[in-house]
Amino acid sequence: MALLEISHADIIYQTEKSETEAVRDLTLSVDEGEFIALVGPSGCGKTTLLSMIAGLLAPTNGTVAIDGTPVVASSGNVGYMLQRDNLFEWRTIESNVLLGLSVQKKLNDESRKYALDMLDKYGLGEFKAAYPTQLSGGMRQRAALIRTLAFKPRLLLLDEPFSAVDFQTRMTVCDDVHSIIKHEKKTAVLVTHDIAEAVSMADRIVVLTARPATVKTVFDIDIDAPTPLKRRENPRFSYWFDRVWKEVTL
Ligand SMILES: Nc1ncnc2c1ncn2[C@@H]1O[C@H](COP(=O)(O)OP(=O)(O)O)[C@@H](O)[C@H]1O
Ligand SMILES: [Mg+2]
Repeated sequence: MALLEISHADIIYQTEKSETEAVRDLTLSVDEGEFIALVGPSGCGKTTLLSMIAGLLAPTNGTVAIDGTPVVASSGNVGYMLQRDNLFEWRTIESNVLLGLSVQKKLNDESRKYALDMLDKYGLGEFKAAYPTQLSGGMRQRAALIRTLAFKPRLLLLDEPFSAVDFQTRMTVCDDVHSIIKHEKKTAVLVTHDIAEAVSMADRIVVLTARPATVKTVFDIDIDAPTPLKRRENPRFSYWFDRVWKEVTL
């Protein structure tokens, strides 16, 4: 059974004056351990789709299930990482990473150790007592990712997580995040408008149509390289970039 199963989902936003059809008849399944990228035109319904997977928004028709059970926001199965890292500037990195666990009454010796060990493992051990402003954009994203992973979500959703990171360091940050996700054996769904980013990171790329979003094409990216940076250096990279780019724009 697939970890995530979306079947014939529609989402229609109802407002007083109008209806917006954001997602139409979308069917998609994601296996455990897969890294999926969703790409599609701006405004097509990508964030809406992630909100539905997170259980924050119910589909108007159709179903969304994780491990065969319909999603609900409170299940703790889904971790959500946004464009802005949302770290609290007045709290230390350690306190930021543990805060969510504490608020949700899930902070105990084991969860604390798990989170702090990840800070050590992924190069932030020396920055536990530092404040977010003392960290680079890339380190902040790493801290935000560890904060999300501290809950041990089955599925990780990333909505354009690198668009606020400056261009010079974005590729290294992609490498860091990809390596943490693979090391922790997480299943991930990444939304991005950056096709090179999608090709460098994903096992599968799902191209969505303009609104209402539905699946246009799915590509299995068969570039044999261990990291996003190495993928970018691979001769197959430009082939896939070109194919995905054409599918998004034509
Ligand atoms: N809460 C909402 N109420 C009404 N319409 C919305 C709401 N959120 C998003 N939309 C509309 O749904 C469409 C898809 O939005 P969104 O999922 O944010 O697109 P994307 O993330 O692909 O840019 C857009 O036309 C947007 O204006
Ligand atoms: Mg969006």
